[in-house]
Amino acid sequence: MKVLILSFSSNQVNEDSYIPNKIGLTFSCAQECEKKLKENGNEVEHICMNKKNIQKCLACGKRGWGICLEEHKCILKDNFNEIYEYMSNFDAYIFITPVYFWEMSESAKTFFDRLKRCDAFNDNSKIKHKKIVCIACAGGSGNGTEETLKSFDILNHFLETEMIGRIPITKANFENQKSTIDKAMKF
Ligand SMILES: Cc1cc2nc3c(=O)[nH]c(=O)nc-3n(C[C@H](O)[C@H](O)[C@H](O)COP(=O)(O)O)c2cc1C
Repeated sequence: MKVLILSFSSNQVNEDSYIPNKIGLTFSCAQECEKKLKENGNEVEHICMNKKNIQKCLACGKRGWGICLEEHKCILKDNFNEIYEYMSNFDAYIFITPVYFWEMSESAKTFFDRLKRCDAFNDNSKIKHKKIVCIACAGGSGNGTEETLKSFDILNHFLETEMIGRIPITKANFENQKSTIDKAMKF
């Protein structure tokens, strides 16, 4: 299977990083997923979405709908449409976000807001019925992890994808939760 990991944290572990935190939970989870998926014979790609230019939805057009409703693309000229199209090449998706203020990160919210609009009423959707695993990475308290996973449940509802794993991670439970992640990587 071809699996696409989309992560939405500021962390990026390489020399063109623009971010201080190089040992983030989100990135560590993405690495764990990638390792297990490859061990299980899958082809994997990981995109760090914070490096992409994804602007906020303008709710353009009449009654709050733009061309997204009929044409299933966005009018904004940024990286959204190319990533949405690119997603059709994959059989399953792993979505990983940090928990900020009891919610998914801003970059995740911005991307999924537009994905819902373009895909939810797309009869020719290439995402529908595909499997997803959603991971919420929180700090010490873990507050907001469930709320973040709930937002993924709503996304799953509108995309009509198949949620096969919703995984709460904190700094304290990460080592133990690796086995949960590993199990979820068996598509
Ligand atoms: C702006 C901001 C808001 C945060 N809000 C929460 C929160 O509501 N609940 C929580 O448990 N941790 C919260 N945290 C901590 C992060 O979820 C935690 O550090 C997580 O590991 C971040 O992901 P990363 O390690 O990939 O950077 C927040 C961190 C930031 C920067």
